[in-house]
Amino acid sequence: MNILVIGSGGREYMLAWKIHQSLHCERLFIAPGNAGTDLFGENIEIDVNDFGAIGQFVIENKVELVVVGPEDPLVNGIRDYFKNDQLKDIAIVGPGKDGARLEGSKDFSKRFMQKNKIPTAKAQTFAIESIDEALSYLRQCKMPIVLKADGLAAGKGVVIANDLKEAQDTLKSMLLDKQFGEASNKVLIEEFLNGIELSVFVLTDGKHYVTLPEAKDYKRIGEEDTGPNTGGMGAVSPVRFADADFMKKVTERIIEPTVHGLQNEGIDYRGFIFIGLMNVKGDPYVIEYNVRMGDPEAQVVIPRIKNDLVELLVKVADGKLGNYQLEVSEDYASTVVMVSDGYPGSYKKGKSIQGLADVTNALVVHAGTKQQDYEVLTNGGRVLAVTGMGSSLTDALKMSYHGVDSIHWEGAYFRKDIGKDILRLHLD
Ligand code: AMP
Ligand code: GLY
Repeated sequence: MNILVIGSGGREYMLAWKIHQSLHCERLFIAPGNAGTDLFGENIEIDVNDFGAIGQFVIENKVELVVVGPEDPLVNGIRDYFKNDQLKDIAIVGPGKDGARLEGSKDFSKRFMQKNKIPTAKAQTFAIESIDEALSYLRQCKMPIVLKADGLAAGKGVVIANDLKEAQDTLKSMLLDKQFGEASNKVLIEEFLNGIELSVFVLTDGKHYVTLPEAKDYKRIGEEDTGPNTGGMGAVSPVRFADADFMKKVTERIIEPTVHGLQNEGIDYRGFIFIGLMNVKGDPYVIEYNVRMGDPEAQVVIPRIKNDLVELLVKVADGKLGNYQLEVSEDYASTVVMVSDGYPGSYKKGKSIQGLADVTNALVVHAGTKQQDYEVLTNGGRVLAVTGMGSSLTDALKMSYHGVDSIHWEGAYFRKDIGKDILRLHLD
């Protein structure tokens, strides 16, 4: 069948990499893709939110399966657009607008968790009309405290304030100065959870689900988790503290009530659910839902899946996931993200990348790259990631860092401590 992947980052590179290996894949298109995705298919220059152009392309090119990578088109209703007459038989992976609110509105997702008794941090939502109430509520809160813009804010809408003044200033700039535009019309004031984060991924057809391998992501720009948050600087899978006991708690307390809760709301959710959770002394609490795969988590989760991804995704889209057996490699995977100097602040694009062909024992995952004549140029903040695999986390990391050492451009930066916390946790 012909397949279209929507998006242009490392996550979409991984989807294309795996879909391309399927016997069911005839022609693969990536919209818009990057300098690496054209190894697996044809990049097409269509914006991820231009549903009219996407729909027309799908019809003209006899696409039968559409896999939506990023959250934006999902929150904007791409699945709902595909309900129109000419497109209604196309299989599409990703929830409709109703389900995408799990990511698109933190207030909705908090209420969803409360209603379904899913463990999560305590929180209250405030709008501009109740700013005085919010400021006085803050005075009773224990510090640090977490402030979250309700809507999508490109990963920047969460601030952890260490003292009351910082919390009040942040609240004012979100609600009064509209720091994140419409996204901060409402703000959640949320209890700070102290623990270790874990990303859990579920694919559901609305009734059944499979749990994909878990991963740990490294969000801060600096080593030892310092500095501002980024989209993610690296990831590892599996995560050893997520043992059978812990995952049983995650399944019973979080995954099952989430899938059933969606059903009870009448939401026919077909796609990925990414559960960001905190392990607080052995108990899992949800920090956030995303309605897509993680990036860079996809770079370590997808290579560990042995099944044919197209078969799996078609079952998700068709509502036929019952009795599906996922096969997962026992190998460890790690990925190290290389970014442009200045990221997550401002950075330059267009730097020439050298050494890509020298990486032979690891997978170079393109994210923000662009092909120009015979050169590959940087074209974003997170430029690429290098995924290594091995029978131990140490071996996987060796492969990743060996690959990273071969790649150069002016101003390239990466974290040297990916996975180290986990190794410490288990070796000390
Ligand atoms: P989010 O955009 O909701 O993933 O939040 C970004 C990051 O903020 C998370 O990955 C956590 O590191 C941190 N965070 C969010 N909520 C909390 C919380 N309630 N307690 C502690 N850290 C949090
Ligand atoms: N790595 C976190 C995310 O994809 O949101």
